[in-house]
Amino acid sequence: MILVTGATGQYGAKAIEHLLKKGIAPQQIAALVRDAAKGQHLEEQGIDLRVGDYADVASLVTALQGVDKLLLVSSNDRGAVENRTAHHANAIRAAKEARVKHVVYTSFVTKPAYEDSAIAGFLDSHAQTEQLLQASGLAYTILQNGIYLEMIPLFAGDKVAETGIIRFPAQEGKASWVLREELAEAAAHVLTTEGHENQRYVLANAESASFRDIARNLSGILGKEISYQSPPVGEFQATLRQFGVPDVYIGMFTTWASAVAQGMMDVEDSTLEAFLGRKPTTTAQFLAQVYK
Ligand SMILES: NC(=O)c1ccc[n+]([C@@H]2O[C@H](COP(=O)([O-])OP(=O)(O)OC[C@H]3O[C@@H](n4cnc5c(N)ncnc54)[C@H](OP(=O)(O)O)[C@@H]3O)[C@@H](O)[C@H]2O)c1
Repeated sequence: MILVTGATGQYGAKAIEHLLKKGIAPQQIAALVRDAAKGQHLEEQGIDLRVGDYADVASLVTALQGVDKLLLVSSNDRGAVENRTAHHANAIRAAKEARVKHVVYTSFVTKPAYEDSAIAGFLDSHAQTEQLLQASGLAYTILQNGIYLEMIPLFAGDKVAETGIIRFPAQEGKASWVLREELAEAAAHVLTTEGHENQRYVLANAESASFRDIARNLSGILGKEISYQSPPVGEFQATLRQFGVPDVYIGMFTTWASAVAQGMMDVEDSTLEAFLGRKPTTTAQFLAQVYK
């Protein structure tokens, strides 16, 4: 039995879809949800719905009974970053208690000296989870996922075609953007093939792209000049404030722009291609699909 957490989320849902595509019977798949009503469509497919919350270890121990492999999708808790670490620690503890054999964890790409980066807290939570897993005695696989391609339209803004400009303080930094669904497909590959025990994989694109590259690609796709400007952070934040963007999003955009500027997600790697058996979707291909 393979249990996928975050089954009502975008990545978890795709991981389940890809397990089914790879021939795993629905009866051999369990889905962890917080709210059973949100998982009804999964139950209708014959998937074993289990209710549990990362904040509640007892619920996780019950939910993990009879599970051999656990795909632990990292928490998206919007509160203090320590909440995420506590959620992951609870899941690992529960996996041990429920005698799960193998835990596959969705971590994030990282670099040496990440402690000085804009996403230090976030990376620290993943690093601590990786350490907990390694010390747990459970067989584990760590998937260091790259930044989702799906974040680009959020950062570039939805009016690029009209305004002809991307204003985002990412400077000339590049990132190895990767499609969320392909990361989920890679997880399904790891869960259904042998030899991944106690491995750590970087799952990112083989080509990185900057926002200047993105603007150049968009110019070709839209048939009009799209320029790129990287404003000073203070100016960027003031503009967002003027448009009534909530502070939590201003903080999030600034953090990710700075992390791109620092090259934190620029980690070209070919492991994903090997797991997919084809080249991952490139930034240019993704933009052509979204902005066509
Ligand atoms: N690589 C990247 O660029 C990137 C970008 C964004 C996020 N991430 C990370 O990757 C994860 C998966 O991405 P995604 O796009 O699928 O996120 P998502 O759509 O927001 O899904 C998150 C899932 O986690 C579940 N969840 C949240 N808190 C939980 C709790 N306390 N107990 C049990 N389940 C809980 C949610 O359940 P509900 O439906 O009940 O809320 C949802 O199913 C995220 O959670 C985040 O850690 C990575």
